[in-house]
Amino acid sequence: MAARLGLLARLPLCGQGRGRFLDCLHRHLSSPGTAILKREEPLAEPGLQEKTKKKTFSEVQKERHEQAQRSILISCPKKVPEKKLLKYLCQHGEITNHFFFESFGIHAVIEFSKKESIASLQDATSIPRGETEFPIPFKSRFFHLNLKNPPKQTSNEMLIQCSKQSSPLNSDLMQMLCNAESVEDQINSLMKILQITEENIRLRYLTCSLIEDIAAAYFPSCTIRPFGSSVNSFGKLGCDLDMFLDLDDIGKNGATKTGEPFLMEYQVKNVSSERWATQKILAVIGECLDNFGPGCVSVQKILHARCPLVRFSHQASGFQCDLTANNRIAMKSSELLYIYGSLDSRVRALAFSIRCWARQHALTSSIPGAWLTNFSLTIMIIFFLQKRSPPVIPSLDYLKNLADARDKCIIEGNDCTFVSNLDKIKPSENTETLDVLLYQFFEYFGNFAFNKNSINIRKGKEETKPDSSPVHIQNPFEPTLNISRNVNESQLERFVHLARESAWILQEDKGQSSKSSNHPWGLAALLLPSVSNKSKAKKPGRGSTSEAVRKLLESIKADSSKHPTATREKRTSSP
Ligand code: GTP
Ligand code: MG
Repeated sequence: MAARLGLLARLPLCGQGRGRFLDCLHRHLSSPGTAILKREEPLAEPGLQEKTKKKTFSEVQKERHEQAQRSILISCPKKVPEKKLLKYLCQHGEITNHFFFESFGIHAVIEFSKKESIASLQDATSIPRGETEFPIPFKSRFFHLNLKNPPKQTSNEMLIQCSKQSSPLNSDLMQMLCNAESVEDQINSLMKILQITEENIRLRYLTCSLIEDIAAAYFPSCTIRPFGSSVNSFGKLGCDLDMFLDLDDIGKNGATKTGEPFLMEYQVKNVSSERWATQKILAVIGECLDNFGPGCVSVQKILHARCPLVRFSHQASGFQCDLTANNRIAMKSSELLYIYGSLDSRVRALAFSIRCWARQHALTSSIPGAWLTNFSLTIMIIFFLQKRSPPVIPSLDYLKNLADARDKCIIEGNDCTFVSNLDKIKPSENTETLDVLLYQFFEYFGNFAFNKNSINIRKGKEETKPDSSPVHIQNPFEPTLNISRNVNESQLERFVHLARESAWILQEDKGQSSKSSNHPWGLAALLLPSVSNKSKAKKPGRGSTSEAVRKLLESIKADSSKHPTATREKRTSSP
């Protein structure tokens, strides 16, 4: 049996005194079997805070980071005595929020109102000791609930509600799309179902925070921050967790104290470049995660990639994680997408449906290759929305002109300045519906002159292509780089072909007076394989997608024939 290092602390749950703990429990527990004790307002979801001042990206990140530092993760047995667990934890301080989820067993996320509660809990918790367990002196925030007397029967109290962590495209979802009133309705419903939830966002920040605890053993002032789709507002349930090891504060502190007579001896030794330093730092953290990281499995150090990274699976949260360092431009790109996603509700809705369409037809994949990435596709969507008349969103240059002194940001010689205060940006005068925008997107890119034009969201205009790559999308912050240089001719052809087919399907639907709930139409029709059947080029990774969706279609038809009343009037009821 493999030896296990004792980083995962055990919470014993035995009889506790009542009194103040029950008071505390009653204050929070809404009803038996309810997973969430007290739901706070989400910190900042786009569109929800129209009347109050919108939070900036860094404000949201800061609050979430602080919230994660007050939280813990608990691996629980199958039957969780929720009340008892909360009663026990209340001894250490007030709990502001909690939820359960499933990933290799049941887990709980508990958020205390104060960080000190965690220290109190850690002091009271035992570290596993056994013949195959070798504890190390490290206080983890990942606990294991060890029931002394596990309940024999499942009572109502044991029935916890688990928060949703994934949302596959299945027959229920397709049926719901068929039941919608309009394409706009379909797009909004798809986004609501697929987007990452409040709990999933908390779990992402908590996972970063748990990794930060480990990295902090080497670099005490470091921060691990999520970026990419976990934070840019385009995240779909199940998307990877991109993490950035931020050592910048350490550098800043060193650089600012110029008048002091002492210099601190603290540097990466024997390296000739920043890239090499990044590789060394990631190698050390990767080794540490592999040997001591609670819940971290399949750790791979991919240090010779263009952007060196450590890839691992965080089993307890269920996230596939990519840890990078020295990647500040990607962080700025995430902030820019967050701003575009927050400016107008149509941006995210459109991006969700187009990203979902592209994944369904294997135009994008989680495996790197000669196809479009979600990042490139999102930049194309942003470009298309900048090109509408009047524009739905402004150009990056316009956002730069609105920036003030605090927004100034130069990274490695690249100007990454743009406004951070969302309230300074005027709302769009464009009133086009999502139906129109979706159709126009396919029309636009089905006929785009990829052979001579480059996509440039900084100017919001196409430019002459500087090289012969099939697709040229200018990196918004490193203008000499093409973010889609990996895309080959046959992938471009597939994209153009599918865009034209999809425009044609939407156009055809428009002509029909009645939409049927047992025949996929609008967005549902676009997600079916028939759109891609004619495409002959090699597809990335997931060749079986079409087969899966074909089965979905068959199951919808089978369901409809089982329930003959499920026809048009059903679409008036809410899904
Ligand atoms: P998912 O597919 O949902 O994970 O989308 P994502 O936006 O998180 O993409 P991904 O995980 O591939 O990359 C994470 C982030 O890295 C992106 O959001 C970008 O900020 C950045 N990034 C990815 N690819 C490129 C690229 O080719 N060039 C540049 N400059 N940045 C990139
Ligand atoms: Mg990602």
